[in-house]
Order: sequence, then C-alpha cells, then structure tokens
Amino acid sequence: MSTVLVANGPNLSRLGTREPEKYGSTSYDELAAHAMQWGSDLGLEVVMRQSDDEAELVAWMHEAVDNGWDVVLNPAAFTHYSYALRDACALVTSAGRRLIEVHLTNPHAREEFRHTSVISGVATGTIAGLGIDSYRLGLEAIAATAS
Ligand code: DQA
Repeated sequence: MSTVLVANGPNLSRLGTREPEKYGSTSYDELAAHAMQWGSDLGLEVVMRQSDDEAELVAWMHEAVDNGWDVVLNPAAFTHYSYALRDACALVTSAGRRLIEVHLTNPHAREEFRHTSVISGVATGTIAGLGIDSYRLGLEAIAATAS
C-alpha cells in the first residue's frame, strides 16, 4: 500500500475554533479522521501530522523522500515566505514523488501577502479554496497516479 504524508503547518491544530468563518468548523482531529478514512477508501495509508515548527516540516519532507512517500501539504503561513520549506518540497518532487499543495481557503481571494506561494513552483499541483475537500481531492489526485 502506498503511503501519503498529510503534513500541516502552523496554526492548523486550531482548526474548528480558528476563524471558523474562513477555515470552517471541522477540528484538526476531525480532519485527521476524515483524511485517514479517505485514504483508506482510496487504498492509501495516510500519515497525518501538524507542526508549528519550520524545521520539523523540513525534516518531514526529508523523511518523505527517504521513505518514498507522496505528500499532501498545507504549508499554512509558510506558504508565503519559507524558502527552506520550498527547497525541501523540491527534494520531494525531484525525487519523483508527488507533492500536492492544499489550502482550505483561496489565498488569491485574500490579503495580498497571501497571493504569493513560494511552494507552488515546486509542487506537483495545488488545490485551494474548497475547505476540507481540498485535502480529499489532494489524496484523490495522488491515488489516481499512485506508483
Ligand atoms: C491556509 C492559507 C494561509 O494563507 C494561512 O496562513 C493558513 C491556512 C489555508 O489552508 O487556507 O494558515 O494555508
């Protein structure tokens, strides 16, 4: 069974209570349960993680490369400025693994600083603006081309 790391950046542990009018009322634990179920329905093993720490996210991208995992990544605020995470994501895709960047909201419809993603240029693809369905569609994209 192919393994997918679903990695989440800063403040996403607060889903459910964090600006619910933007990010929805689903908690992080509920999102994790959905992601596990979606993965299992698609024949994927999901490893779900969240960190507020850039270094930890970078280390997880290295782990994905070493283990041959595909990645669904919500980089959260790191999307907009973390060149370290971008370079780690480039390691994933240049190793031939898929990395789908996902966002709950549509950053392009929000503040100007959110219009830039330093991750998109090295991602396999990006899905944004569909709430938690962005994650489901990210997993589907990986399942459709699983290797
Ligand atoms: C986000 C969008 C980012 O701009 C923001 O910093 C987040 C969440 C999203 O899922 O919509 O933390 O990645």
